[in-house]
Formats: sequence, C-alpha cells, structure tokens
Amino acid sequence: MSSRITSTLDPFSPDFRADPYAAYDQLRALGPVVWLEQHGIWCVHHYDTCMKVLSNYEVYSNAGGGGIKNYFHEEPWRPPSIILEVDPPDHTRTRTVMNRVLGPRILRELREGFEAVAGTMVDEARALGDVDGVDALSRRFPLKVFPDSVGLAEDGRDKLLVYGAMVFGAFGPEGDWYRSFMAENADVPAWIMDRCQRANLSPDGIGEMIYAAADDGQVTPEEALMLVRTFLSAGVDTTVDSIGLALKLLAEHPEQYARLRADPGLARNAFDEATRFDSSSQSLFRTTLCDTELAGQAIGKHEKVMVFIGSAGRDGAHFDDPDTFDITRRIKGQMGYGVGPHGCVGQMFARLEGEVLLRAVAERVDRLELTGPAEFRLNPGLRGLSRLPMALH
Ligand code: HEM
Repeated sequence: MSSRITSTLDPFSPDFRADPYAAYDQLRALGPVVWLEQHGIWCVHHYDTCMKVLSNYEVYSNAGGGGIKNYFHEEPWRPPSIILEVDPPDHTRTRTVMNRVLGPRILRELREGFEAVAGTMVDEARALGDVDGVDALSRRFPLKVFPDSVGLAEDGRDKLLVYGAMVFGAFGPEGDWYRSFMAENADVPAWIMDRCQRANLSPDGIGEMIYAAADDGQVTPEEALMLVRTFLSAGVDTTVDSIGLALKLLAEHPEQYARLRADPGLARNAFDEATRFDSSSQSLFRTTLCDTELAGQAIGKHEKVMVFIGSAGRDGAHFDDPDTFDITRRIKGQMGYGVGPHGCVGQMFARLEGEVLLRAVAERVDRLELTGPAEFRLNPGLRGLSRLPMALH
C-alpha cells in the first residue's frame, strides 16, 4: 500500500467552485485516490476509479447519505431518500417502480407537449431579443413541463426551487448560508409533502402512476408519497442547471452553435456533450461499509468517498481531447448521470427536456450572443447559473 496522498483543496470553497476543472486537473495529477484534509474525506476523480466506486455498492454504499454528512455517525436532515439513500436489494423495489413510470412510452407521449411549450417560450424570448437566459428559458421551461408531467397543482411552483436548494444544499458541509436559508424557508418541506399527497395530484400525471403502483402492492402508500417527493428533489434543479450551462456553452462556442443551427437534429447529442463537458451534477458521495483498498490506497470502514463525475468527464485517459466542447462527439460511457445501480433514473426525461429546448432554440435563433458575464449560484450540491445575460438574434 502506498502512503496517503493528501490535498488542501476544498471542493466547497468559492475558488474551487468558480473553476472546478482546474482543480480536477490538479487532483488527477496527484493520484487516483486523494485525502481531502479540510473535510476528512477521500475523493476519486479519474474515469476508471469513479466507475469502480459507483459500480460496487457492496463496498461503497448509499446508505451513509447522498451528501457529505455521514449517516452512520450523524442525523440526516430529513428522512433519507428511499431510492437514492438505500442499497440493493431494498433499492431494487423502489427503483423498479420509478423505472416503469419513466419508461419510453410515457416519454414519447410527453414529447409533443414539451415541443409546443419550448416553441412558445423561445418565440417569446426571441421577440424580447435581450434576455436573462435563466429566467426566460433554462428555469422557465423545466419549471413548467416537469411539474405538469408529475401532475402538480399550478400555484406556488417557485417553492420547488427553494426545496431543491435545500436538498442540494444539504449535500455540502453545514455553513451559515445553509442554516439561515433553512430557517427562512422552514415551511417549505411540509408544503412539498402536502403537494405530493395523492388527492393533490392530477389523475393523469406520473405522480398518480406511482400511487397506482402502491394500489398494486409494489410499494406502500407511504413509500409512494416519498417517491413522488423524490421527483421534486431530484428532477427540477438538475435540469434547470444543466440546460442553463448548455445554453451558455453554445453561446460561448459560436462555431458549435452554427453547426446546431444548420442541423437541429444534433440537439440531443449537443445536450449530452454539455453534460460531459460542464454539467449540474459534479460530484456524488458513497460511504464504505467495510475496510477496503482502492488503487493501492487503504480506506477504512464508514469513510466518505467523494466521486467527482465532473472530473471523470474530462479525463483524457477516457475521452479524446476532453477539454474541447464538440457537439458531434460520439460519447462513449457518459458519466454525467452517474452509473451503476443508482445511475440517474430520470436521465431519459432530462435528455428529452434538454433536446427539445435546444432544438427549439436552434430552429428559431440565428445566433446566440452573451451580453454580460454569466453568474453562478452558490449551492454546494449542484453547479448552475443564477443569470445568463444574452441576446437571441
Ligand atoms: C440533467 C439533469 C440531471 C442530471 C445531471 C442528473 C444526475 C443524476 C446523478 C449523477 C445521479 C446519481 C446519484 C448517485 O449515484 O449518487 C442521479 C440519480 C437520480 N436522479 Fe437524476 N439527474 C438529472 C435529472 C433527473 C430527473 C429529470 C429526474 C426525475 C425525473 C431525476 C431523478 C433521479 C433519481 C430519482 C435518482 C436516484 C436514482 C437511484 O438512486 O436509483 N434526475 N441523477
């Protein structure tokens, strides 16, 4: 066994988050498994080691919590997720229900409605010319089509983003920002639970399909409620942030946007490449169930491992020319949605949203121009924009 490689880098610091890719270069150069002193956790950042950790749930468990908090030693902030924060075989049962309600037939049925909404929103944004791309498109579109699909009532949907910020905020260390945010919005978790009740969902949405699975005995009614809540935790901010980053990338790379404009059929691949290149989901956590060894490094039982999937997407040992954004790239082994048993169950939904919106833009807008600096929002669990000043020509 080699001696431990350590780093003082702090993945939750403003510097790291301003440019995680420079930090990933440093980490990959240090070695395959690095001890992050500031937080007393391990991290992995090469494609191969990320894959090893995410594929081996018998050693690298989700039951220790989806964020930096170690549930083997600390209290979770809310009852743990019954899909993300459990291991097989318990995981398999809830996952199967989620897989069914997000299957290809449902997505095919949703596509046309999504296209109509995206077309209208892009037309409206283009009529304005100068817009905040977050307000006008990347936040507005998912915040309409996703809760509509789940069957959520119309009013108060902005609270979904507050809830998402709580969920992904809990991913990082508990700082002053998080404590005051939680205190200011103390009523929101109860509001979310109320909205997820069967009686408050429309009869033709995905939420109701989950309750129907409970009628069939596949899960209990209490579990159905928790699974509907999972949609609202995992499915809103992720797509808002990923679509925002994809729009920013296309505006920053006019030659790539020109290719998309010439062939809007590239929209799905463009979104996938944006997910590899710069995505909302940069890192995941696992907790070891036993003493183990990874790439020559001994790791103890109940230790946290931070898995930088954002770095895996830039690993030159796996992707040719990893720092080039190329919307025609053939992406082999996308890791932006995770892999293994917990790989994103909503990824086809996310891809549908991303594809439809980028295509609607490409079909209507000649040129995207950034008219000011993009601003990042501060949430430890996700990478995303709070502002994207742009002109749609
Ligand atoms: C671009 C948007 C999205 C990104 C980048 C993303 C990313 C991810 C990643 C990386 C994971 C793995 C977590 C882990 O292994 O610890 C995950 C899991 C998950 N995602 Fe997504 N996601 C997106 C959109 C969605 C959507 C739209 C939904 C719901 C329809 C969703 C629902 C879930 C759920 C329920 C899990 C947990 C799956 C499990 O534990 O088996 N996600 N997502």
